[in-house]
Amino acid sequence: MVEALYPVPADWAQNALIDETRYQEKYARSIDDPEGFWAEEAQRIDWIKPFSVVKQTSFDEADFGISWFTDGTLNLSANALDRHLATRGDQVAILFEPDDPTTGERRITYRDLHAQVCRFANLLKARGVRKGDRVTIYLPMVPEAAVAMLACARIGAIHSIVFAGFSPDALAGRITDCDSSIVLTADQGLRGGKRVPLKANVDEALKDCPGVGTVIVLAHTGADVPMVEGRDIDWAAGVAGQSADCEPVEMAAEDPLFILYTSGSTGKPKGVLHTTGGYSVWASMTHEYVFDYRPGQIYWCAADIGWVTGHSYVVYGPLMNGATTVMFEGVPSYPDASRFWQIVDKFEVEIFYGAPTALRALMREGDDFVKATSRKSLRLLGSVGEPINPEAWSWYYNVVGEGRCPIVDTWWQTETGGVMITPLPGATALKPGSASKPMFGVKPMLLDGEGKEITGAGEGCLVVAGSWPGQMRTVWGDHERFFQTYFSTFKGFYFTGDGCRRDEDGYYWITGRIDDVINVSGHRMGTAEIESALVAHHKVAEAAVVGMPHEIKGQGIYAFVTTNVGVEADEDLRRELVKWVRHEIGPIATPDVIQFAPGLPKTRSGKIMRRILRKIGENDFSNLGDTSTLADPSVVDNLIANRPQPA
Ligand code: WT7
Repeated sequence: MVEALYPVPADWAQNALIDETRYQEKYARSIDDPEGFWAEEAQRIDWIKPFSVVKQTSFDEADFGISWFTDGTLNLSANALDRHLATRGDQVAILFEPDDPTTGERRITYRDLHAQVCRFANLLKARGVRKGDRVTIYLPMVPEAAVAMLACARIGAIHSIVFAGFSPDALAGRITDCDSSIVLTADQGLRGGKRVPLKANVDEALKDCPGVGTVIVLAHTGADVPMVEGRDIDWAAGVAGQSADCEPVEMAAEDPLFILYTSGSTGKPKGVLHTTGGYSVWASMTHEYVFDYRPGQIYWCAADIGWVTGHSYVVYGPLMNGATTVMFEGVPSYPDASRFWQIVDKFEVEIFYGAPTALRALMREGDDFVKATSRKSLRLLGSVGEPINPEAWSWYYNVVGEGRCPIVDTWWQTETGGVMITPLPGATALKPGSASKPMFGVKPMLLDGEGKEITGAGEGCLVVAGSWPGQMRTVWGDHERFFQTYFSTFKGFYFTGDGCRRDEDGYYWITGRIDDVINVSGHRMGTAEIESALVAHHKVAEAAVVGMPHEIKGQGIYAFVTTNVGVEADEDLRRELVKWVRHEIGPIATPDVIQFAPGLPKTRSGKIMRRILRKIGENDFSNLGDTSTLADPSVVDNLIANRPQPA
């Protein structure tokens, strides 16, 4: 198969921060002399006390530990705000576009943002929040979400953002896990003209969280929401009396910055912990090189702050680099499918970073919605969250970018803090569907099932050899789980959970998760999590969930459900279970197919053979593999015969 190759455009090769030669040189140096490379690269940060130790890292069980810039001190909010005031205080830091286009945008300068962050930080302090305390943020995509994050970073509180699409149950679980005593929310969120009852969800969640003593409520839509006396504070009233000065707290490089929960293959979601120094260097460096970012350019990452992409590339990376970062509250399809590109025109966005799932949904609406807009300001496009299929890639490239904008297909994870494998627009010829080449300091390797390295072209499990500054440091409250999840499968390496192919040119092609994690619209879901939600229903005896191909979402959710004896497995129950899962986890976990299964394919020792269920989910019965170890092979025939077709 001959792969299409899109050479680096001449103007990019000439003008970019990193051209091909520089990439090769810098990459080689980052691997051969990491201490020297990172000592220099870390100078992008204003350290309060400079570090003398660059790194102390080991993935071996005997002396396991990850520490970067160990004895340095800094404050991230000062790096994102204070240091810009003299040079770009009046530059717009956040360009906010609300859900309803008739409401009009908000432009917040670095000076305004600094003042808002200080006021809010002082309010947090007044409510007793101290360095190291956990603050749960359950806010829509509004500038106050960024204010809240930066205020936490300013006083050394650890923020834990819970995506505003998660259910009260999911929220309660995350509040309890990190033992946070304060929640920041809004009356309601707005998405595509629909209201999301955020405060009501918080009230519901807090029935299970007796430790929460403060809820700060942003009046966003102005809806009348009940306030609990002594616990709930109106945001505006709370900050009104606060000073616009707040000294940033001196943080050690390894002091925690934030927790972000993400799904794994087993158990409940893990609280991924990132720390201050390494994350700051990594988010800032990757944002600059991946997007060839120059201060003042209008940059838009369309991710929600509830995901890591929103942390690193809506807020922290861009603001550290003096960017004007666009925040969009709404959805790509409202009021119609031109919305993204209208915003691009309105703000003259130069760099746009989005998810394949949104592109696929827009692609289906036809080219006219794109062509109705100019998009002449666009110079660079980015993709993140899941593999981008060649069809979506070429639509993005040809229709949205009119063939003049490189696409950076960035592979990374919540755990990695920032981009790990990506093309650089001035350095890398593009192959549609390939995340291409490693970022500086990243040494990807492919291993076979036995842990043997695959060299040259080949396919295997993607691991990373050695640490990088943006790496997560632990699972909140469970360091042993951190080690077991990521470092025990292949001794001495960080295991990503992804499969990957490397071609003759050294390009990496992510093939998707090889564990029991599925990627629904770029959002990670643990199959075990959905299964435990299903079995929590009183009519369900057993459940097994697998991914299935889905045209828009990339992967959909396919659930096999065995009901309790005597239960009528009918359409009503199907609807009830869909509603139940949405209620237990949130709408992103909505099952696409529920198949009632009188029995699941199990080995004689009782282990569910997911391989077979995946095949059935894929509607591919040709290659079920060896079924001879099944306790009852007829179970499979029954499942095939009764496979429902998705609506
Ligand atoms: C998983 C991580 C990256 C931040 C947002 C998602 C998949 C991510 C790509 C890409 C192919 C990708 C991987 C990864 N993934 N980016 N460019 N090409 N796959 O973060 O929720 O932690 O999910 O998303 O499977 O392991 P996340």
